[in-house]
Amino acid sequence: MTKKILAFAGSLRKDSWHKKLVKVILAGAKNAGAEVTFINLEDYELPLFNEDKVAEFVVSERNLKFRELLKSHDGFIIGTPEYNSAITPALKNAIDWASVPVNGEEGLVTFKGKFVALVSGSAGGFGGIRGLPITRLILSNIGAHVISDQMAVPKVTEKFDASGNITDEKLKSQLEALGKQLVDLIK
Ligand SMILES: Cc1cc2nc3c(=O)[nH]c(=O)nc-3n(C[C@H](O)[C@H](O)[C@H](O)COP(=O)(O)O)c2cc1C
Repeated sequence: MTKKILAFAGSLRKDSWHKKLVKVILAGAKNAGAEVTFINLEDYELPLFNEDKVAEFVVSERNLKFRELLKSHDGFIIGTPEYNSAITPALKNAIDWASVPVNGEEGLVTFKGKFVALVSGSAGGFGGIRGLPITRLILSNIGAHVISDQMAVPKVTEKFDASGNITDEKLKSQLEALGKQLVDLIK
């Protein structure tokens, strides 16, 4: 059966580098035979998680749609920007909202057993690598299988043209290979 891969970045920024990175990995997954979906996390953005507001927002259209997307896909490609040596509040907030029970359904059905490929990038020389193990730990602890290969892309600001196309051929094939690996592992 065709495997379904969902990609998103933990950035709400329109011109996010991580959105560009995950799209290249997603192309690799598509070439490997997967059915692919890219989403902008801001379309599913919810308030900063507050347990007092769970009843109000957990059944919101945004949360339910995001949950359904996670549930209906076999694997995820997540671009995880490094903010102060950790992950972005947008990504953590989305994971938190998507991990609480809704209408009697177990919360973690969204992540349990799902395969995940991670990527980060930064303008500097370390490629945002410090956010990767933190993202990995969070997702692993809620039941996802985060694949061991990952990509941290240094000087990401120099890797795409003005139209958002990747210009570094070696990087392109490495990212696409990660997408293929994700699909092959799920198969
Ligand atoms: C609050 C904040 C903290 C940041 N901390 C780091 C950091 O610790 N290390 C790093 O490499 N970049 C850091 N950055 C830069 C981001 O990695 C950079 O803006 C990146 O492009 C964000 O990803 P995006 O382009 O997908 O939005 C930080 C940016 C912000 C706004």
